[in-house]
Amino acid sequence: MQDKIKALEDKIESAKLGGGEKRIEAQHAKKKLTARERVHFLMDEGSFEEIGMFVTHRSTNFGLENNKPLGDGVVTGYGNINGRLTYVFAQDFTVMGGSLAEAHAEKIVKIMDMAMKNGAPLIGLNDSGGARIQEGVVSLGGYADIFYRNTQASGVIPQLSAIMGPCAGGAVYSPALTDFISMVENTSYMFVTGPNVVKTVTHEEVTSEELGGASTHSTKSGVTHFTYANEIACINGLKKLLSYIPQNCEDGAPSIPYTAGDEIRDKLNNIIPDNPNQPYDIREVISGTVDGDSFHEVHKDYAENIVVGFARLAGRSIGIVANQPAFLAGVLDNNSSKKAARFVRFCDAFNIPLLVFEDVPGFLPGTDQEWNAIITNGAKLLYAFSEATVPRITVITRKAYGGAYDVMNSKHIGADMNFAWPSSEIAVMGAKGAAEIIFKKEIKEAADSEVKLKEKEAEYAEMFANPYNAAARGYVDEVIRPDQTREKLIKAFKMLENKVETLPKKKHGNIPM
Ligand code: HXC
Repeated sequence: MQDKIKALEDKIESAKLGGGEKRIEAQHAKKKLTARERVHFLMDEGSFEEIGMFVTHRSTNFGLENNKPLGDGVVTGYGNINGRLTYVFAQDFTVMGGSLAEAHAEKIVKIMDMAMKNGAPLIGLNDSGGARIQEGVVSLGGYADIFYRNTQASGVIPQLSAIMGPCAGGAVYSPALTDFISMVENTSYMFVTGPNVVKTVTHEEVTSEELGGASTHSTKSGVTHFTYANEIACINGLKKLLSYIPQNCEDGAPSIPYTAGDEIRDKLNNIIPDNPNQPYDIREVISGTVDGDSFHEVHKDYAENIVVGFARLAGRSIGIVANQPAFLAGVLDNNSSKKAARFVRFCDAFNIPLLVFEDVPGFLPGTDQEWNAIITNGAKLLYAFSEATVPRITVITRKAYGGAYDVMNSKHIGADMNFAWPSSEIAVMGAKGAAEIIFKKEIKEAADSEVKLKEKEAEYAEMFANPYNAAARGYVDEVIRPDQTREKLIKAFKMLENKVETLPKKKHGNIPM
């Protein structure tokens, strides 16, 4: 028996070596960890159990019959993250560039099926050159098997992806089907076709970093939700993100112990400037309201006119969507509508209550917006809020103008509670624009048009630049002092804790894509 145990131990050592010492050194030289090192830092000490360590490919093409690395380029298994069961796969770039083929895919599929059956999150640590070229269509089939499961699992278990190296071809579509993508700056790339193919087809000269680096995908495309300076920061980011998210769609939003106190926040009374056209940073309102420094922003550098992220309120996870007056005056446009809609749908799928801070002057006008389908994209956000059945509360801090008033979680589309600060202006549009339209004739005929416009603007502002018309109709449930916001929200979310709302029976809705 002893010799058999020794043989097993040797086999395990060999599997752990992946593509060999030289390739591990090369990986480290690129400031990248190996797949096993990543798993080690991700999972709670000693909790990781590997599955399928001895799996090998069955290919006999292009000399692969003499190269059968144990594990086939991916480490799969389960363990705990902060005490919670989590499934993980980590692609090993030292083995054939982490490329995906039949056996590699089967291992990932097995883990995905287990995560689904047992209702626990799945984390993919991606580092792959895409479909293994030597295995042909079998590699493509393997990808499709994974894409199919990503889609089946969507909304059932949380799926998080980290990109930790070059991810090309099919390697980008599985992450794209998951809930959140994180990238590491300067060492990770995502593209469907790399710079060489781009040059051949479109004659564009572009570097990997420009085409699909972390900064490109965090600012230009919005493909990635988070970027980190290095892999350890990325892994810590995954753990933090997971702490706000339940295990599965039947689990409630996570809650941590909380002691009441410090509920009245005076600082909130001094954020809104006297001049309604002056910007302020909505993050001050968010951090002034939630628990400690619990705000965890998502998609921070993309569509900055809307801020989304997770936070804790009285210990419980919530999702926040907030217009950002400090960027483009907080208008809704194509990208911000898509960004917010996606976040709202995630929170709704995983029972995370939604809090909206509203200060929005309307939709951004212009040909760029119209030609890029602001009608369809704005409708996405409208749809996402309208179908969300989690507890939903809105706080109007200042402007709630036009269609954007309806869209931003108004009572009319199902918000449970709607608070307004005394600085709120709830109207079809700003006073100046409104006066110019409805008093056009009077202003034109006046001896001094400028004076008349100012007079009419003041008249309109007096009537609508306040929350009281909306409160009189019950569209606003309560006008509150800013310093009361936290206390009111804690009570209201508590009151909504057992909210049950069901949508009409349907196969699935048809969100404007
Ligand atoms: C097999 C691959 C591979 C692949 C890399 N390797 N990609 N082997 N299939 N797809 C191997 C290399 O041959 C090399 O082996 C090792 O991995 C490391 O690769 P290098 O090129 O030396 O590394 P690097 O310079 O860092 O470049 C990494 C890379 C590049 C950017 C990923 O390898 C690359 O461009 N690969 C091909 C990417 C690609 O076109 N994929 C698309 C496949 S089609 P040795 O033995 O020399 O160390 C696809 C379609 C699916 O995915 C569609 C589904 C919707």
